[in-house]
Amino acid sequence: RAWRRVAARRLDIRPLRPHSGKSLEKNMSMAARRTIVGRIDGEILKFTAGDDIKLDLELVEADCIGSAAHATMLSRMKPPVLTPAEARRIVAALVSVMKAHRAGRFRIRLEDQDVHLAVELRLTAMLGDLGRRLHTGRSRNDQVATDLRLYGKAELLGVIEEASLLAESLLDMAARHLKTPMAGRTHLQPAMPATVGLWASAYAESLLDDLEVVAAAYRLNDRNVLGSAAGYGVPLAVDRVLTCRLLGFERPVRNVLHACHTRGKNESVILAALAQLMLTLSRLAEDIIIFVMPEFGYFEYPKEYGTGSSIMPQKVNPDAAELVRAKAAVVAQQAAMACEITRGLPAGYNRDLQEIKKPFMEGLASTRASLRVMTRLVRGLKPNETALRAGFGAGVFATDMALRLVSQGVPFREAYRRVKERLPELKAMDPDEAIAMRTHLGGPARLDIGGMRAAAGEWKKFARTRLERYHAAVSNLLGVKYPQLE
Ligand code: ARG
Repeated sequence: RAWRRVAARRLDIRPLRPHSGKSLEKNMSMAARRTIVGRIDGEILKFTAGDDIKLDLELVEADCIGSAAHATMLSRMKPPVLTPAEARRIVAALVSVMKAHRAGRFRIRLEDQDVHLAVELRLTAMLGDLGRRLHTGRSRNDQVATDLRLYGKAELLGVIEEASLLAESLLDMAARHLKTPMAGRTHLQPAMPATVGLWASAYAESLLDDLEVVAAAYRLNDRNVLGSAAGYGVPLAVDRVLTCRLLGFERPVRNVLHACHTRGKNESVILAALAQLMLTLSRLAEDIIIFVMPEFGYFEYPKEYGTGSSIMPQKVNPDAAELVRAKAAVVAQQAAMACEITRGLPAGYNRDLQEIKKPFMEGLASTRASLRVMTRLVRGLKPNETALRAGFGAGVFATDMALRLVSQGVPFREAYRRVKERLPELKAMDPDEAIAMRTHLGGPARLDIGGMRAAAGEWKKFARTRLERYHAAVSNLLGVKYPQLE
């Protein structure tokens, strides 16, 4: 019994009131609850509110900011719904809700269903009838879509900054080990002379590519959907250009129904971009896991980043890298989940979209955590030059030998055959010399570390300037310095 109750609690499938056992019936007719939008059966309420009661706590700030823009707009449209003084009172009350939330004094109860109604109730408790006028001309549909875009905006700028910091750490490693030999592999088998610099900066360039995908997602996300209401607009002169400016979005989504339809699609685009970043991270993690194996010993894994074993005293396991690899699979699935949930929806809002909130938030959080963890790992990795040089068997130079014959006029296919026939006699070359000869664009002896560093710096600037601009817009809107709220 007790075990079953624990299991049910974990799966969050327990009934609202644990039933006594004598009357399942009574439990089935679980009392309807009074909510702001009418009476709702208890079981249905719990099921439909779902995780929102917890997840929406992440959206309190965004929700208050969105409401501040809406209230301000209501006071400036023609004819105005609120006086400027009324809008100011609402905005001040919203700021106090944000402060209460930060102090841990804001709850979302089941009866509230979500953050939107919880904030509205709180405002009404503070402002009376004025609180009841805030929802004029908007719907929870455009409200939650706005919240997710504001939330996504700040998170994506964090992602961009953290990914450029990781790229910079890889470039630092590449610069420190520009000439440190490292056998290049194909099929995991030794293949060609290469360097730690080539290896590390390859992952840096991959991150720079991924950032272009993330920035495309950022641009699509940076559009205002507020004022689209339930997806069909309203018979009031709501000013969507004004709320766009107040919230610091780049431009409004043009069509109100499309604004509604971008919910789900927007999250899936963002998650797909994150999945690309995670793909890069996962392969980097896999390399680290292999190259810190004692059998390779190419890199020394920092002891403090390893987790020990409970039984084997000698262990320093690269669990952190392994979890990044696993999270890459999870984020790819979260992207797929967002697509799948959105795929079959008919035109207009559908509650299915709510189910995307969790993978969206978790995907952002685990990508950011992975970026930060990989930055630490990369900064802590110590290449072991002796082990790296020991990885150069004679075979690694076979192609160089064949090309040496080519330079003496032998056709390549013939040179290839000659080297292959005498493989056992093949002598190792000097790795440094072999590396120094690879001077063409992007080769181990001609890496554009500076160019990549400049690109990473641009991305950092991209993130910082946009975050500053966003904070300036919100500070202006709230009349207090944001994010400090002072
Ligand atoms: N929690 C809901 C969501 O995430 C809010 C919107 C509810 N809208 C509605 N028409 N039931 O989608």
